[in-house]
Amino acid sequence: MKKISFSILLVVGSFIATTMAQTNIDITDTGKVKISRHIYGHFAEHLGRCIYDGFYVGEKSTIPNTNGVRNDIIAALKKMKIPMLRWPGGCFADTYHWNDGIGPKDKRPSMVNRWWGGVTEDNSFGSHEFLNMCELLNTEPYMAGNIATGTVQELADWAQYVTSSTKNPMSDLRKQNGREQPWRAKYWGVGNEAWGCGGNMTPEYYANEYRKYATFLSDWSNTEKIFRVASGANVADYHWTETLMKNIPRNLMEGVALHHYSFVEWESKGSATQFTEEQYFKTIKRALFMDSLVINHSAIMDKYDPQKRIALVVDEWGGWYNVEAGTNPGFLYQQNTMRDAMIAGVTLNIFHKHADRVRIANLAQTINVLQAVILTDKERMILTPTYHVLEMYNVHQDATVLGLKLSTNDYVFNGQNLPAVSASASKDSTGVIHVSLVNIDPNKTQKVKLNINTEKMNSVTGRVLASKKVQDYNSFNEPEKIKPAVFKDVILDKKSLSVTLPPASVVVLTIK
Ligand code: AHR
Repeated sequence: MKKISFSILLVVGSFIATTMAQTNIDITDTGKVKISRHIYGHFAEHLGRCIYDGFYVGEKSTIPNTNGVRNDIIAALKKMKIPMLRWPGGCFADTYHWNDGIGPKDKRPSMVNRWWGGVTEDNSFGSHEFLNMCELLNTEPYMAGNIATGTVQELADWAQYVTSSTKNPMSDLRKQNGREQPWRAKYWGVGNEAWGCGGNMTPEYYANEYRKYATFLSDWSNTEKIFRVASGANVADYHWTETLMKNIPRNLMEGVALHHYSFVEWESKGSATQFTEEQYFKTIKRALFMDSLVINHSAIMDKYDPQKRIALVVDEWGGWYNVEAGTNPGFLYQQNTMRDAMIAGVTLNIFHKHADRVRIANLAQTINVLQAVILTDKERMILTPTYHVLEMYNVHQDATVLGLKLSTNDYVFNGQNLPAVSASASKDSTGVIHVSLVNIDPNKTQKVKLNINTEKMNSVTGRVLASKKVQDYNSFNEPEKIKPAVFKDVILDKKSLSVTLPPASVVVLTIK
């Protein structure tokens, strides 16, 4: 009798061990909500070498360029399918006077970039240069307005200068400066981080300021359908979101922002490349916190806007570490490792999951700043692991999100746990399904069983981004150390797929 119960225990035990050793994903949903391509947006601030010596090298540069913007960067960002670009800040936005950046370049006044390194800028990259560049990139501009050191009139005039097709003083000035037709510029931010660098305002004060600025952005009834984004909460400041939702009329606001960065500790961010597993764990834990943030901010928004007409706009996110040795501390130049690839993969999966509310997001920042997709050194340029994740994931842009049930092992470090596997799925307009999977565990492979109950699967292919260590990165000496490869560890068996994810990897499957 005793013997029998012992063997039963063994069988049950090994059954539990087998199921525990495997991640299960069930897709049972046929999908209703579209993943807005704008959650794949980027951010370009006048900060360090993002604009000057990043995007923009000037018309006279020996580096091949179009109107001063590097051709290699244009090609790379187009390949990545950059759908939106936020400019000119960040903190810089509330010091920027657009009028200084138009007209003949030799007549433009210079300015001191007081937030970022105190450098003097000559305003050679202004509205025309930015908006023309967006056209070259086939990307949607997202303009960040100055409400702290600017005026209501200044912001209203900027919108008119950029978007107006009728005859008026601002469109006349634009034409005089060489641009006949207005640009397409639908998205406008009303200040940036109004709780901090954008004026240290209280939410109550900002809500009143917002109402004033938003009234005159576009015409009274917003017939031009400008999309106005209120400066949102710092991380978990739920009172901020509540106050804006309560005090700003629905007809004045199309989006509310949220900023959240991933770091080890704000006061001690550590190196971008030389980090311990403990620092890795802490950074990823903070990245995964985005899920709770979106859930909690959305719950507040739901109270005032149950139909989800107002978007949650995560217009700054990404990893933030110490600057690289020998670089200007005010320039925020950091390398980009497989840790950043993990942050990108899990964060985009979170945005997909909340696609009904998160409809815009902007990774900070595109070139040479924070979690950049591109790094440059004079004429040389490298694509970071983060670039590759965004390029691999671009198949989800504007596809329909498929809800899934995920039960995963944990990644355990020092007695603390995080879910090891993160996943999301979508179906594109041609019926092709894409599944993106991230294994954040730097030490263990993960076996995944993926069931799709709603579709017949005929074939599967995949791409993988992985490297030996999470500290690995692409350098100017080894620019292709990390790049996507064909993924072979997937077996299709009628209604299910068996996948083996390498440690610290990102995989995107294409299922037909
Ligand atoms: O992205 C760098 C800075 O971080 C931005 O200027 C600001 O909005 C945020 O605090």
